Amino acid sequence: MTKYIVRGGKPLFGEVEISGAKNAAVAIIPAALLVDGVCRIENIPQISDVTLFLTILEELGANIRTINRHAVEIDCRHIHSTRTSYDLAHRIRASYYLIGALLGRFGKADVTMPGGCNFGVRPIDQHIKGFTAMGASVEVEGGYIHANAQGGRLKGANIYMDVVSVGATMNVMMAAVLAEGNTVIENAAKEPHIVDLANFLNSVGASIRGAGTDTIKIQGVERLRGGSYAIIPDQIEAGTYMAAVAATGGQILVKNIIPKHMDCITAKLVEMGATVEEREDTLLVRRTERLHRTNIKTLPYPGFPTDMQPQITAVLSLAEGTSLVTESVWNNRYRYVDELKRMGAHIQVDDKTAVVEGVEKLTGAPVQASDLRAGAALVIAALAAQGESEIGCVQYIERGYEDIVGKLRALGADIRSVEVSSDEDGLETRIS
Ligand code: EPU
Repeated sequence: MTKYIVRGGKPLFGEVEISGAKNAAVAIIPAALLVDGVCRIENIPQISDVTLFLTILEELGANIRTINRHAVEIDCRHIHSTRTSYDLAHRIRASYYLIGALLGRFGKADVTMPGGCNFGVRPIDQHIKGFTAMGASVEVEGGYIHANAQGGRLKGANIYMDVVSVGATMNVMMAAVLAEGNTVIENAAKEPHIVDLANFLNSVGASIRGAGTDTIKIQGVERLRGGSYAIIPDQIEAGTYMAAVAATGGQILVKNIIPKHMDCITAKLVEMGATVEEREDTLLVRRTERLHRTNIKTLPYPGFPTDMQPQITAVLSLAEGTSLVTESVWNNRYRYVDELKRMGAHIQVDDKTAVVEGVEKLTGAPVQASDLRAGAALVIAALAAQGESEIGCVQYIERGYEDIVGKLRALGADIRSVEVSSDEDGLETRIS
């Protein structure tokens, strides 16, 4: 078991290089299954979700060649199975993309029900609605989703999404690129990773228009050929480092980002009193005075991202005044609040709203991450807190942040990763 030990209270200074976007990578890697050729994918983040996906593709018959730490070649010309093994696929939420990709290319898919971060009910009815509209039968049995296209190939359809869903938009887009005829997705999500997936698919021969707006039009083609593509930088990883310096004070240069993607986060940090200077593909973020309160409501892009909600709440817990945070995407994304309270935060959660009464200081404490972004929020709070914190369940954090310990240490943070063993009574010993 790995834990992070953080001695907080030090401002951050220096530069941080942002990795490729996790939520684009976990769609583009399975989308390679649609391609009858070799795809070279660059700027892949080194995170455990990506490693798992590459292993799943290999099991299905893909040939994966590692070019370097951030680039692979995926050859899906000789896929021999459309059924994922239970053990691997149920560990990741985004395994649902395997349904759209396998169904689109081979007309059938047997994929484990998705797992992943636990913050309440995470339905996939809109994905299924899309596949069904394109002529697939979809059944759930024995922990698996079985999808079969009538006649072996999906047919284009007009699909109106009842909720704005990132996953359903991308999944239906994947299923539609090789379908017979045209597909229109209305009320589509507009996140940067949706545009990235469309750009990747178009670069290998798909015909997708309108990604990034709420209407996406896809003209089915017969075959996708190989190609080379670089994934966009991770908006949420960048936002997390921006939030970290806002909490600790100091000045950092956040490198390799697309500033436009950061506007929704930058605007809020500036409102709170941080300074953010944009320079081509970098942002210089500075915080000198105590931050002040603000209100935040999470919304689909271009609104404030739900995946930054825990991190910004950690920052607001130290701002002057009382802030209101409203989560409007997920039902239950405040599990980390009890952990922040252990560190001295004053936060009351009432249904979807957290009332955050800023305190002068937080104090280090033993805390547990309950999901990826919850873990990031605890790291931020621990960096700003006086004294030592011990953060457990960091495997959640490592699902989505490449080398977070190394990157923070390069910014001057006192954080290290330790291996801990526990005996039958739960008594823990640090072994490294
Ligand atoms: N929803 C439905 N039916 C569906 C699909 C979604 O009702 O069929 C609802 C959900 O319950 C939720 C809302 O629609 O209330 C939005 O869900 P969405 O489908 O957009 O989420 P997702 O695709 O499962 C992705 C990211 C999440 C991120 C959300 C929202 C991936 C792998 N995951 O999830 O990222 O929170 O979009 O932006 O792309 C993270 O990175 O920490 C993370 C959880």
